[in-house]
Amino acid sequence: MGLDLHKHGGNLTEEARRLGVSEHALLDASASLVPFPPPAALEECLKAALQGSALRSYPDCSHQSLREAISSFHGIPPSMILPGNGAAELFTWAARDAATEGVSGLPNPGFSDYARALRCWDAPYIDLNLPLSWSATTPQPFPLLPKTDVLWITNPHNPTGQLWSHDSIHKLIKKHSLLICDEAFLPLAPNGEQQSLLPLITKYPNLVVIRSLTKLFGIAGLRLGYAVGNEHRLKKWQEWRDPWPLNGLAIMAGVRLMTDKKLLSNWINRVHQWVSVEGSWLYNKLNSIPGITAHPSAVNFILFKNTSSVSRLRERLSEKHILIRDCESFKALGKQWFRVSLQDRVGNQLITSAIQEIVN
Ligand SMILES: Cc1ncc(COP(=O)(O)O)c(C=O)c1O
Repeated sequence: MGLDLHKHGGNLTEEARRLGVSEHALLDASASLVPFPPPAALEECLKAALQGSALRSYPDCSHQSLREAISSFHGIPPSMILPGNGAAELFTWAARDAATEGVSGLPNPGFSDYARALRCWDAPYIDLNLPLSWSATTPQPFPLLPKTDVLWITNPHNPTGQLWSHDSIHKLIKKHSLLICDEAFLPLAPNGEQQSLLPLITKYPNLVVIRSLTKLFGIAGLRLGYAVGNEHRLKKWQEWRDPWPLNGLAIMAGVRLMTDKKLLSNWINRVHQWVSVEGSWLYNKLNSIPGITAHPSAVNFILFKNTSSVSRLRERLSEKHILIRDCESFKALGKQWFRVSLQDRVGNQLITSAIQEIVN
């Protein structure tokens, strides 16, 4: 039995094996990561870490240096920050809390990992169906959905790319016993930070915000995320998890990236510029192909609907070494939907001309 139980984008190793090519030969538009190499400072930091004690010694269980680095970036006390082995690890602990609060509501279609995390604890959850068409307005009001005890929000939403307005989700905090807001993609969205719930974190103990550095810096292999929330809640999470969830290299990388304000602001500006320019380019190009409808997105991936099943399109693209995310595994979508993650212009041109050739 294979152990690849989780259906996500970015299955590079598996696809390369299936196609009999090296991973480098693939253009991966199925996982939504920044496509340029990470900042040079990161490579220098990792080299230095290898020469120091980061490999030999157990990492600092308190993650104090990383907490302080993240704290200095957000202006939030270190005690309200818990670094994690990617955002995904932190969903597991958020779900354990959710299990004690009652029924979780999962906006649908949505990121499947919340349900994985809830199932760990036999926590009850229901799908809350999102409308499948929306305007190009950014930010958008969060739709009115049936009330549950716990609400999981993704801002911007995956796979739709909708950026929810701060005001519309702020109102929901008081209506739920726990609100978990996954802001993994927020730093990539131009003007996204204005919609963050982080400024409310000291006011609402029932709010948890989860962030990730893996998409912003294109470092998914390193595994680096953090939760921001009530100090007592995060202390419990720390007691539940294993003593060394983050490795020494990831900790040093996180400290390096989060303390360098200039590097961060230059990087984020570059990412926003790329999302704006390439986002509208890819949207217009693919939308102009007969049969394909693009859906407005505020971030670095776009959802498309085809008039027929995209399984042949996905297969033909993979033969050309291009991976897109078919959306069959997203409940509420199905065979006609696919998601493409923005690349640099050369990559986006390859994707659009390949799709054009296949559908013609
Ligand atoms: C909405 C969303 N949140 C979080 C994650 C996982 O982030 P990380 O790599 O930090 O675990 C993903 C990965 O695809 C995602 O789509």
